Amino acid sequence: MRTLVREIINLENKKVELMGWVATRRDHGKLIFIDLRDRSGVIQAVFLPKPEELHALADKLRSEWVVKLKGKVAKRPENMVNKEIETGEFEIQAEGLEIINESEALPIAIDTNGYEIGEDSRMKYRYLDLRRERLNKNIKIRAKIEKLIRDFLTEKEFVEIETPILGKSTPEGARDYLVPSRLEPGRFYALPQAPQQYKQLLMVAGIERYFQIARCFRDEDTRGDRQPEFTQLDMEMSFVEREDVMCLNEELLIKLVKELMPEKKIQEIPFPRLSYKDAMEKYDTDRPDLRKDKNDPNLLAFCWVIDFPFFKKSDGGWTFTHNPFSAPKPEYIEFLLRQESISEILAGQYDIILNGFEIGGGSIRNHKPEALKAVFKIMGFTDERVKENFGHMLEAFKYGAPPHGGIAWGLDRLIALLQDEPNIREVIAFPKTGDGGDLMMGAPSDVESEQLKELHIKVVNDEKTKK
Ligand code: AMO
Repeated sequence: MRTLVREIINLENKKVELMGWVATRRDHGKLIFIDLRDRSGVIQAVFLPKPEELHALADKLRSEWVVKLKGKVAKRPENMVNKEIETGEFEIQAEGLEIINESEALPIAIDTNGYEIGEDSRMKYRYLDLRRERLNKNIKIRAKIEKLIRDFLTEKEFVEIETPILGKSTPEGARDYLVPSRLEPGRFYALPQAPQQYKQLLMVAGIERYFQIARCFRDEDTRGDRQPEFTQLDMEMSFVEREDVMCLNEELLIKLVKELMPEKKIQEIPFPRLSYKDAMEKYDTDRPDLRKDKNDPNLLAFCWVIDFPFFKKSDGGWTFTHNPFSAPKPEYIEFLLRQESISEILAGQYDIILNGFEIGGGSIRNHKPEALKAVFKIMGFTDERVKENFGHMLEAFKYGAPPHGGIAWGLDRLIALLQDEPNIREVIAFPKTGDGGDLMMGAPSDVESEQLKELHIKVVNDEKTKK
């Protein structure tokens, strides 16, 4: 039966069978040492000169070969203890070896932190890149964070619901990824920029408390804190005010840090709150970095920014600053309905900031059709366009929509900050490159002309389709 590396510390003098990868092999003439790695850790194994056959087999081993190793767990001599690794007081005295699979020399080093390796190589060989300890840790802590979030919200009666990936293109801020419809030539689905409309419709459906760890797609340029495909912790609640959403999220963030990152210190609890106006006046940004000591990697300065202006000028007209579905703060509802003093209207919007990065944002929504219509009117949308783009929302709000509000965290951003990573791709298993490509799979790629034909698509200036 297979034993995991981490278990051997309780198995002194016992015979074990381990399976994993050869991390390193050191040849000391008569003695051959290997470090064997599995998902739980690393252990040293030693091959003595005899039996000769076993020694000869061990001599063949190279880095990253997959092996089955039999042997006895023994204490290392005092002066040979390796304090760097958890199993460092022990070693395996090898008694049997089976080579399960060989490996060619790896194209990238995996025993370093990897920052020194070019993006192209790391992304092309991401499955090897992920073997490195740093990335392995990041991916595992991500799973723990997601589990804690799920447990916390489920406990509080939130229902986890999956919403569609094939949706409708609506003007919500960023550029959509479009998916052509085969059955309706010339028409398109859009991949969701966020599950915003679905979660509001779930409130109309009487779910009251929804959450999802949701994949979102935005066709925008990739940056350190931005990927074309990223993950939100998305939630929505009915019969709540701004305070309820903010307090619940604050509670969850504090729990997450305390339980999973005990080495981190939250600078101030409750999280300070700043109005947009104060933040701009004092820090000249709406995502201020409030850390008192910016050299301390373990310091977390969360803050909320609230009271954003609802509308901003754009191309001579008005557009929303955050989200067309936000409600104004209650005291501004009359301005909105009468479409007056537009620049003064403040939104029920809140952003959560960590160390100068926006890690989430949300708002209390308009749950009455008139208010939502007024937003689109101010933005200069014709009745026809409103109906075409958002008719389904206005229709839904006719049937007893509860007051509701929510928020979405940029989960990749939060995890990257908690892991002191400079770029969110370090906490995503298979991220895209700076140009939005997947070098490992080779996407985006050409497709068969037959596929294009089925989709009624002609690519302009493409040599293949011109034929
Ligand atoms: P918003 O557009 O502010 O709000 O997105 C919420 C959070 O998602 C993160 N984020 C990103 N992370 C990585 N790559 C990207 N391209 C990217 N874009 C955004 C940010 C941001 O704070 N539906 C609303 C939320 C709501 O109102 O409930 C929404 O999507 O951390």
